[in-house]
Amino acid sequence: MAPFLDATTAVSDMTLNHLLLYCRPGFESDCANEIQSVSARLGIYGYVKTRENAGYVTFISHEPDGALQIQKKQRFSGLVFARQWVAAGEMIADLPMKDRVGALTAALADLPQCGEVRLETADTNEAKELSVFCRKFAHPLRQGLRKAGLLTKTEDPRKPCLHLFFIDSCNLYAGISRPGNNSPWPMGIPRLKFPKEAPSRSTLKLEEAFHVFVPRDEWDTRLASGMKAVDLGAAPGGWTWQLVNRHMFVSAVDNGPMNRDLMESGLVTHLQEDGFLFQPAKSVNWMVCDIVDKPSRTAGRMADWLVNGWCREAIFNLKLPMKQRFTAVEAAIDKIQSRLAEAERHCSLTIKQLYHDREEVTVHAKLES
Ligand SMILES: C[S@@+](CC[C@H](N)C(=O)[O-])C[C@H]1O[C@@H](n2cnc3c(N)ncnc32)[C@H](O)[C@@H]1O
Repeated sequence: MAPFLDATTAVSDMTLNHLLLYCRPGFESDCANEIQSVSARLGIYGYVKTRENAGYVTFISHEPDGALQIQKKQRFSGLVFARQWVAAGEMIADLPMKDRVGALTAALADLPQCGEVRLETADTNEAKELSVFCRKFAHPLRQGLRKAGLLTKTEDPRKPCLHLFFIDSCNLYAGISRPGNNSPWPMGIPRLKFPKEAPSRSTLKLEEAFHVFVPRDEWDTRLASGMKAVDLGAAPGGWTWQLVNRHMFVSAVDNGPMNRDLMESGLVTHLQEDGFLFQPAKSVNWMVCDIVDKPSRTAGRMADWLVNGWCREAIFNLKLPMKQRFTAVEAAIDKIQSRLAEAERHCSLTIKQLYHDREEVTVHAKLES
């Protein structure tokens, strides 16, 4: 695979052998299994440190710039369980309370100049209190970093993003990620507002999926008004609401009842059928599926849709109630990929555990024309 070297590729004089991966609390072992598999494939060796429910995992490379190497050779979007990744050094411990800014700017002196700084924590209840500290500390720290030349005067997306990941107010990891190969959101969490007219909270899963999988400047062509969509397992209609909100015509397949207001939009046809047997009369632009079933069964049916070209793009969930979630995802994706290969269909597949996903991951599939 070609390395992702570009203008923002950072060269650091600081040892960056810790790759921090932020994840949903409870998914540390899946995130750890995944990074071990990725690093082994890249030939960058090291070991992983995890703590249950910590909300992050640390991969420690045997090479001094191992974490940076992984960021250069691997696409962030190719990781399923990581919400964000940071190439960092050893933990910066025991910051003096009296002059945290001074101590930090000294500790970061060997990092390349960054275009943005994010003060972050794990997404845990314990860490919530720390976010108050982070908000207060952000302003003086930014000033200190700018004065020391470590941060550009205004935000510059061509330069690396500096992450300060606080364990508590005196202990943190500091490191970098590269815009274009990281999550654009602080803590890797998109803050979406629940649309109060939507019939269920799971509407946010599909909205987040649009943000993650479809570049914003392509929404008007790929999520366009008048397109045809099928929603399998649609009731009560949170996902259908997102499609209708983009003025698409939706066939909503579910034996359960659909939200009345949504039906009044005139854009939805409710089909009380089995979503795993439903087949569209004509190819549609989008198929989405939120049916709760075994990943292997869902994968099999999603493969039918893609191999037969019943849709151009699809977004679906793989539900993961089991322990070995990384293995289950790999098996489901392998199943889809081998069906596509047999049929000589070219299709991109991207898999991510979204912030709004719980025991599940979301898959985006796009057939190449
Ligand atoms: C998690 S809910 C979907 C929620 C929906 N995405 C929303 O945003 O409101 C799963 C739905 O799948 C439906 N379902 C389960 N098995 C199904 C099947 N074989 N065919 C169609 N619908 C199915 C259930 O009736 C349920 O309404």
